[in-house]
Amino acid sequence: MSKDNTPIHGIWTSRWVFILAAAGSAIGLGNIWKFPYMTGANGGGAFVMVYLVCIACVGMPIMIAEVMLGRRGGMSPVNSMRKLARENGVSSRWTGVGALGALSGFLLLSFYTVIGGWTLFYVWEMASGALHQASASEVQGVFDGIMANPWLVLAGHTMFMVMTMVVIGRGVVRGIEASVRILMPLLFLLLLVLFGYALTSDGFGAALRYLFAVDVSRLTGMSVLAAVGHAFFTLSIGLGAIMAYGAYMPRNTVDGKGVRKPVSIGSTVLTVGVLDTVVALMAGMVIFPVVFANGLAPSEGPGLLFVTLPLAFAEVPLGALFGSLFFILVVCAAWTSSISIAEPPVAWLVEKGFSRPQAAVLVGLLAWTLGIGSALSFNVLSDYTLFGKTFFGLVDFVTINIMLPVGGLLIAIFAGWVMKETHVRKELAMKRFGVYLVWRAVLRVVVPLALGTVFVFSLWQGLKPAAAPESPTVPVEVPAADQGAESVPPGKL
Ligand code: TRP
Repeated sequence: MSKDNTPIHGIWTSRWVFILAAAGSAIGLGNIWKFPYMTGANGGGAFVMVYLVCIACVGMPIMIAEVMLGRRGGMSPVNSMRKLARENGVSSRWTGVGALGALSGFLLLSFYTVIGGWTLFYVWEMASGALHQASASEVQGVFDGIMANPWLVLAGHTMFMVMTMVVIGRGVVRGIEASVRILMPLLFLLLLVLFGYALTSDGFGAALRYLFAVDVSRLTGMSVLAAVGHAFFTLSIGLGAIMAYGAYMPRNTVDGKGVRKPVSIGSTVLTVGVLDTVVALMAGMVIFPVVFANGLAPSEGPGLLFVTLPLAFAEVPLGALFGSLFFILVVCAAWTSSISIAEPPVAWLVEKGFSRPQAAVLVGLLAWTLGIGSALSFNVLSDYTLFGKTFFGLVDFVTINIMLPVGGLLIAIFAGWVMKETHVRKELAMKRFGVYLVWRAVLRVVVPLALGTVFVFSLWQGLKPAAAPESPTVPVEVPAADQGAESVPPGKL
């Protein structure tokens, strides 16, 4: 913090900017790409119900804790945790929570931009009209063609990394704030247009039934755990991204009458969680009607977005227009997310004395280099596996299924058990004591139990010998079996 108590990285211009930035982080590939395919793979409504419960009972309490730690610390997660550990008289090893987060951010970024790169190609593919009236095999051919070409995948990865670093290098207010102020309203607008379009589609009723009719018999232990893991990923928690954004959150706001009021973390975070959930559900309501109207399988798997949708859009009037709008939306969403993933390590380097642009270039270059392994996992390196996973599959698994839950668990323990209660209450500025008590009880007991279970279970699932089909909590794997064995040559993906 600087002398006047403003974080050195800057501060969001208003509470609403924090909401936009945090929603920008939360709403990403997780909502538009992963949520629909996971819902499809896990049987529809019952999964959606469990996912909603997980968001409310596990995700939101941790998100509140993470923002609270960030705002109290006022710095990058590493230095915020150092400061808080000192303030609470506990071991400086708690700094490790921040370091773990910066490291997971770096790893997550390395492959998030690879998928982000695919979305860039699809904007182009759709807009060019090349997929208009294409047949299933042609659409599949385009996807396979992109995947099989290491140069193309690398080019997409590079472009997406550069986009991310250009924004982050400009700083919190001039870069991140400026970009979310444009991209988030654009994203909501595009989603509304597409939603209106989906409403008129033949498959809308079927999609609603699919998403909201709960058939408990379809729930398995694995799908419950997948829902917990996904709640984590979609809310961007466990890595320090939201902690860093919390550090730039103003303490007070001035209302219409010029009165200063404390910014309550609970209600602010609630808004972000609701936005994230609404966007995921809307993405489902946009995607499934096209799936049903065209007689396609909802359980298509991770290829749902990249293979099925272009095909569906190819068959409807104005498909090229709506299809490219859709992928522009995905690009915006993924972009504001990748920015937030990179913020913890960048902010840390800035505190070490680097300039913002230098820090962005450094993190970008390192993550880009590591990402080459992920980009090549879809082509030249696809046969090199460990525990049945490609390089990409491994990095993805370790970050999402191991590092994020561990990070989240530690954050919950620190906020719930270690930190002085007076500080917690002061920072949260919660209006109702009852709500605070519930939050604290959930954070101390429910969250550790839930996360402990997910962690142990997903580790056990992921490290099972042989290449059994990937656990549904692993988002980015594209197992050949899920893709329809005949259309994707084994080992291609
Ligand atoms: N939540 C984003 C999505 O749904 C991904 C993301 C951004 C993320 N920042 C994060 C995930 C931090 C975990 C931690 O795509």
